[in-house]
Amino acid sequence: MIICIGAGPGDVGYMTQRGAELIRSADVVAGFNAVITVVQSLIPVTAEVVYMGYRDQVAQLALVAAAHHAGKRCVVVFMGDIHFSGFQYLERVERACGHPVDTLPGISSAQILASRTKVCFDETTFITFHRRGDLTPFKRHLVHVLEDARNAIVIPCPWDAARSFMPRDIAAYLLESGIPANHPTEVWENLTRGDAEWHGTLAECVAQEFTDMSIMLIRMLTPMSSQIEPAQIEPVQIELA
Ligand SMILES: C[S@@+](CC[C@H](N)C(=O)[O-])C[C@H]1O[C@@H](n2cnc3c(N)ncnc32)[C@H](O)[C@@H]1O
Repeated sequence: MIICIGAGPGDVGYMTQRGAELIRSADVVAGFNAVITVVQSLIPVTAEVVYMGYRDQVAQLALVAAAHHAGKRCVVVFMGDIHFSGFQYLERVERACGHPVDTLPGISSAQILASRTKVCFDETTFITFHRRGDLTPFKRHLVHVLEDARNAIVIPCPWDAARSFMPRDIAAYLLESGIPANHPTEVWENLTRGDAEWHGTLAECVAQEFTDMSIMLIRMLTPMSSQIEPAQIEPVQIELA
């Protein structure tokens, strides 16, 4: 048995009870070092732990797949939610196993950000640049999202200089693409682990440096108007003496 589950981000308190049960009953728990650290308190002493990083993930996932095919209960732990910027890692797990695997959702850093900043996903689009392959269609989509007067929650790409697309690069790209400089912009770092926040405009963001553990919100220029029914006006009771 093998299942991929979401944990965190950053704090075991944001893990679902179902995810915690799966880890507690696992024979093998696998994941990136930083994610294993988050769930460490749930891992039984009898379980084998398979740590991995970007460079050795394929080889380490082959070990996990072998354990799964040998009948062990295997859990692969993902940062946040698998369905937010986690599908390339899921694809590697499935390639190692040779078949599709089940997923259990967690809470994404995008959802924690939405909660901190009080934005609603109905009016917001999530885009990640933290992925392999051609980023061009995702960049274009971000421009369209803002042109369509929606908020954007964006995960930057922190990799090597050739691929890096951090908040300052994202802001510069949007300005070059004709997006107005005064879009309210926020960058949050280390959500659930101390939270640092920066607020400014897209133009000001061009000069800012952030760590790898950051997520960006670009707000629509004018908040969407409420479309609920008008508030009821209660008749005022006048007391006559
Ligand atoms: C490969 S993506 C995975 C996102 C994850 N699946 C999720 O749902 O949050 C990793 C990136 O997410 C962002 N991220 C994850 N956890 C975060 C946190 N606690 N605070 C800020 N950003 C975070 C960072 O940009 C990090 O480099």
